[in-house]
Amino acid sequence: MTPEIRSLFAATEHYAYLNSAAVSPMPRTAIEAVNWQLNDVAKYGSEHYPEWVKTKGRCRDLLAGMVNVSPEHIAFMRNTSDGFAAVAAGLDWKAGDNIVTFANEFPANFYPWRRVRDRFGVELRICPERDGRYETDELLDMIDSNTRVVAVSAVQFASGYRADLETIGNAARAADALFAVDIIQGLGQMGFDLDGAKVDIAAGASHKWLCAPEGCGILYVSARARERVDPAFVGWISVETPWDFEDREQPFKPNALAWESGTGPSSLFYGLEQSLTLLNSVGLANIRSYLTELSGYLCERLAGTNYRIISSREPSEATAIVCIEHLGGMHCSEIAERLRAAGVIVSPRGERLRIAPHFYNNKEDIDRLIDALPE
Ligand SMILES: Cc1ncc(COP(=O)(O)O)c(C=O)c1O
Repeated sequence: MTPEIRSLFAATEHYAYLNSAAVSPMPRTAIEAVNWQLNDVAKYGSEHYPEWVKTKGRCRDLLAGMVNVSPEHIAFMRNTSDGFAAVAAGLDWKAGDNIVTFANEFPANFYPWRRVRDRFGVELRICPERDGRYETDELLDMIDSNTRVVAVSAVQFASGYRADLETIGNAARAADALFAVDIIQGLGQMGFDLDGAKVDIAAGASHKWLCAPEGCGILYVSARARERVDPAFVGWISVETPWDFEDREQPFKPNALAWESGTGPSSLFYGLEQSLTLLNSVGLANIRSYLTELSGYLCERLAGTNYRIISSREPSEATAIVCIEHLGGMHCSEIAERLRAAGVIVSPRGERLRIAPHFYNNKEDIDRLIDALPE
């Protein structure tokens, strides 16, 4: 990407920061916007409250465009975990129901389902990972007429494997199950067509590939899911006319907005708006092709080193996340520590070293990583 974009990210001045799958640094424009709102509160208190609400609305519109849904189907939550927890708590479970999922899901997309397993006698069917990837057919074979939810990540946190959402979405729909997708490791390094892939529920958050502050969780609830999932997390703004404090029997909002319970982090939405605007100005399709090239370069440079690439590099399954293992058995935590000492930031995940470049990275960052990798 251009030096202008790179210069918006202060972290690039001192690090080869290759850790967007954990937390992305924010562009300067986002930090200025967060500060602007905080100063606004300092100077004027609640005077500009309607403006803050409008900013949140613009964030919703921008996100809706990135995932191809209508804005009223997106609610802001605290994080990804709350999104899945709210959905799991709002379904009417019965013993014998089952949930189908992948083995190495991030726990945000596991504990809410484990809770319903233990509380209601629901079966969790877990499709095993095979050499850093999954066989879609193996997952589909687990779906049957008792499947209520199929819950997978669009992009796996510990391998970067990209799921075939269209195929899984069709199978979930044919079984009359809800299709729930964790989008946090994808959105921002790519866009999504949630509607086209028949996704019913999607949860994610702002602080990874969206390059925005922590604290803006995203929950998509399709119209179909809204009919089945009770909004179990409600509060004063969940109703149709929140400012009518007298009418306490009014209905909850008929869409995802019912899940927004109360006051949100207004300053963070100012930052989120700037980050989303930056991503859109570059274009998610351009970011994706840039990252295909950059992660391809990384894999080329890894050839002939003492490392094995775990991540699938099949074009339909590959993403910007590349996970590797040391052939001599050096533990990834030790490798990550040595890299940190050389100013290269990556994450150990299980037995793997996870490398996650974003659009502010360049080939020099990759070269710096390769040079610093212990032999
Ligand atoms: C796939 C996935 N889901 C969710 C999260 C984060 O969940 P939350 O937004 O609840 O902190 C992460 C990483 O932290 C992740 O990799």
